[in-house]
Order: sequence, then structure tokens, then C-alpha cells
Amino acid sequence: MPKMTFVERDGTRREVEAPLGLSVLEIAHKHNVDIEGACEGSLACSTCHVIVDAGWFNKLESPTEDEEDMLDLAFDLQETSRLGCQLIMTQKLDGLVVKLPAGSRNAG
Ligand code: FES
Repeated sequence: MPKMTFVERDGTRREVEAPLGLSVLEIAHKHNVDIEGACEGSLACSTCHVIVDAGWFNKLESPTEDEEDMLDLAFDLQETSRLGCQLIMTQKLDGLVVKLPAGSRNAG
């Protein structure tokens, strides 16, 4: 089973099992990682924002225009920001590392 790591806001690293075909958002929810995902993957929010580890960013499929538009609204946007619901786990992404942003638009 592939794995991925979430780096929480306080720097804690959590390595979790990442079943193929699930999105990073779904994987986070399975393991009680604190990513909201208010629209459940329909690209109508930016609360599933994650910051991808720089070494992994180029291995991801490029974001669609819709994803880019939503990302523009995300809080704490960074160069390697992506929407967690659009990142689907594949064998190639085994070991993926993403960081939670400092907050979302509805928090803090
Ligand atoms: S959950 Fe809303 S865009 Fe990802």
C-alpha cells in the first residue's frame, strides 16, 4: 500500500496509508487530518488547500484552470499550493509529502 505524509501546522509529520485512487482530501479525512474540504471535491471552495513538498510538486499532474481559479482564493497560497481533492493517489506518488496551510479562509 502506498504511503503519504501530512505535515501538520505545528510541524508534526504523520505518515499514513494512501490507497490508490483516493484523493489527498479523502486520505486526510480517513486519518482525521485537519483539512476541511467543504465542497467535497467539486472545485467550489478552497478549503482543501495543501502545500506540496517542493520535491514532489513537479511529479503531479498539472492543475486544471478551474483548480487554478479556486486556488487563487486560498489563504496562505504558496508556489507549490494545490487543492487536495484534485490530487489522486497513484503508484508514482508513493511517499508524497504535503503540508497543511497556516489556515483556511474560514479559520483564524
Ligand atoms: S474540497 Fe472544495 S475544492 Fe477541494
